[in-house]
Amino acid sequence: MAQRVINFNPGPSALPLSVLEQAKAELLDFQGTGMSVLETSHRSKSFEAVLDSAIQRTRRLLGLDESYHVLFLQGGASMQFAMVPMNLAAGKPVDYVDTGTWSTKAIKEARICGKETRVVASSEDQQFTYIPEKVPVNSDAAYLHITSNNTIRGTQWRSFPEAGAVPLVCDMSSDIFSRRFDPRPFGLIYAGAQKNAGPAGVTLVIIREDMLQRVPKELPTMLKYSIYADNRSLYNTPPCFSIYICELVLKWIEETVGGLDRMEKINEEKAAILYDYIDSQDFYRGTARRDSRSRMNVTFLLPEAGLEKDFLAGATDAGLVGLKGHRSVGGLRASIYNATTLEGVKSLVDYMKHFAKR
Ligand SMILES: Cc1ncc(COP(=O)(O)O)c(C=O)c1O
Repeated sequence: MAQRVINFNPGPSALPLSVLEQAKAELLDFQGTGMSVLETSHRSKSFEAVLDSAIQRTRRLLGLDESYHVLFLQGGASMQFAMVPMNLAAGKPVDYVDTGTWSTKAIKEARICGKETRVVASSEDQQFTYIPEKVPVNSDAAYLHITSNNTIRGTQWRSFPEAGAVPLVCDMSSDIFSRRFDPRPFGLIYAGAQKNAGPAGVTLVIIREDMLQRVPKELPTMLKYSIYADNRSLYNTPPCFSIYICELVLKWIEETVGGLDRMEKINEEKAAILYDYIDSQDFYRGTARRDSRSRMNVTFLLPEAGLEKDFLAGATDAGLVGLKGHRSVGGLRASIYNATTLEGVKSLVDYMKHFAKR
């Protein structure tokens, strides 16, 4: 086998090696069916068991009670930017916190959908380098939308705003299953799977039963959350193989890592190694305000942008890939999602020390 690299890609991103190995072992014969999950009917017993297990694991890991539906959709998190306002506005204004690119896109889509869209807090005044402390809550809002982790800017909500009776809606694409949180204030959570939950091609949607009452009758069938909830995500053919990999990833978190609390500890440890090093010297500079730093995406700069090419080339030679910052902001970014190991992060710090010295 070719040497596997240490993968810091922002998404799609590293998957646990044991997950890939199991998928490889089962590729030609999934659990004695004599065929791959790629070739199996989505209505077969064997696939239904996979789907059911993915739902149950999501419930257990996040501590969801019976009032939540766990759905698997297509269209990416970007599709949710439109589906959320279409389904949940219910004739009321919709409120958003703008913490950079992905929130900005969600706001744009709500406006395209013709909803009265209010930006109640924003960190645009400082290039989205922080999470706003004060979030005004309007009691007439249909929901308050936030992005829990800002993949591009490297910021993350430590705790979520308290919105009382106004349901929170959250884009958790880049930090779902990375830490524990109280799901109860959330009316809806969505996440493209391709960072912490699995491969590209499937989007996890967790929706509370009362939100389903808001779904307008006149929406096209495939844009209604209620269709997915009523049919356990099997109204049409779902992305079976992506769901299968998600199930393996969730099993890995539960059974190999030892659950979400343990996962969170490891993630804290990994982020601390990287930030402690960045704070201990003056060659590299973190871009996010300290109290808003992401434990998933560590964004940093070199003393001169001209050195980035050299840094990235040397990193690739050292087997460290995916460290280029997003094209819209430049700089460097280490995405250290669940599947990135502690050893991988230590190797990155060793390389950073070596490069700074050189
Ligand atoms: C926080 C966040 N939201 C949304 C998206 C868009 O996801 P998708 O490509 O699945 O539409 C991304 C992609 O990186 C993201 O990081």
